[in-house]
Amino acid sequence: MTAIKKIGVFTSGGDAPGMNACIRSVVRTACHHGIEVTGVLSGYQGMIDRTFTALKPENVNGIVHQGGTILFSSRCPDFKTKEGRLKAYENLKAEGIDALVAIGGNGTFTGAKIFEEEFGIPSIGTPGTIDNDLYGTDMTIGFDTACNTVIEAIDRIRDTAASHHRLFFVEVMGRDSGYIALNSYVASDAEAVLIPERHDDYESMMQVLGGGNELRKSGYIVIVAEGEESGNAFDIQKKVMERFPHFDSRVTVLGHIQRGGRPTCVDRINSSRMGMAAVEGLLSGKRNVMAGIINNEIVYTSFHDTLTKQKPFREDLLSMTQMLLKSV
Ligand code: F6P
Repeated sequence: MTAIKKIGVFTSGGDAPGMNACIRSVVRTACHHGIEVTGVLSGYQGMIDRTFTALKPENVNGIVHQGGTILFSSRCPDFKTKEGRLKAYENLKAEGIDALVAIGGNGTFTGAKIFEEEFGIPSIGTPGTIDNDLYGTDMTIGFDTACNTVIEAIDRIRDTAASHHRLFFVEVMGRDSGYIALNSYVASDAEAVLIPERHDDYESMMQVLGGGNELRKSGYIVIVAEGEESGNAFDIQKKVMERFPHFDSRVTVLGHIQRGGRPTCVDRINSSRMGMAAVEGLLSGKRNVMAGIINNEIVYTSFHDTLTKQKPFREDLLSMTQMLLKSV
């Protein structure tokens, strides 16, 4: 095993608040251990295009509180080809990069795993996605911030919903996962939540909405996860209005607002811990694992497990939803 002298760090896939705090931690930890760091711009695309930038501790001043990623991000189809990966490998070698810290989600780790198998470049990932859908960590970078953004929006929607006695369908992100929706539901006193992990939620919502012709509350809010199997917020609105035409309803799709903004304290601390664990993991010989946090402890999970195992869903929160629904 060759000693690591220079680490490349990059962000890939959907950006998430806290990625900058993670980059800062990687750079400062590496510097502490006498390791150089190169920032790879725009994820895997930057390896192919050779867009590298030296990162010294002073280059990561004043970024811990910023959303987005100073290294930019992309989803890179070229890296899915062998030629693209070969080019990336040649560029990394020419730059003297011995190992990588990959900040991203499933697609990012899939690329890192293949890259190691083909070219032997070791990497450690940190879980950067607002979706919180990665096995091997209780919370991904950006998830807490996104949930806070959502509940602030729902609090505001509640004001106007109540003023007009309206029913709102609020669609939140989570491509295949209802984590943002479920947490926001528990934290926001919405009337119902629709998530891909629950199959009876659509009927439960209908029961709540059909509970009486008069609004027992002064407005109703239904949170719809992007990945909900019964459709998007507009589809659900249409179906509800066919059955309950007396409602005055509106749809709000929160969209990419959820991806931006200043990271919360929780996200800054988690990202910093994971960034440090990624560098120290590489230096202690770990490879092709994700550095996550489970029960407040750093845990390294193989990319294989991260990519193939299903994150256990929060059954406790899920069962709470049934009880909270009953109390409407
Ligand atoms: O993976 C994070 C995420 O924000 C998902 O929740 C969402 O489905 C997707 O990215 C949106 O991707 P894009 O920014 O490419 O439209």
